[in-house]
Amino acid sequence: MEKTGKDSIRLRIKRDGSLSEEAARFDEYEVPRQEGWTIMNALNYIHEHLDPSIAYYSSCRIGKCDACDVLIDGAVELTCIAKFERDVTIEPVEGSVLIRDLVVDTSRPKRRKMGKLLGS
Ligand code: FES
Repeated sequence: MEKTGKDSIRLRIKRDGSLSEEAARFDEYEVPRQEGWTIMNALNYIHEHLDPSIAYYSSCRIGKCDACDVLIDGAVELTCIAKFERDVTIEPVEGSVLIRDLVVDTSRPKRRKMGKLLGS
């Protein structure tokens, strides 16, 4: 996706894929551009101001626990580290049991490796 050139950034977020792939959809949100924000800051903004129903993972918020990994434009990244600087599409990591929206089963320690092996 391209930069919007505006004072906001668009996030396309995959939702409801836990029921079935047919039920999955992408919702779009415009979030005010903020210097120094991460994608997790933008998800927090969406949850607090636009859509409290969105589900995503937040724990250490410093890139240590690996629990907030998602696909950002197809690449595995941590939302608490990834910069909030351009329009993005966010999906749950493939190869994991999806619980809801961007939340996956984090109880499997080799999940990240599996995701990479599956091409994410
Ligand atoms: S919340 Fe722990 S790595 Fe992002």
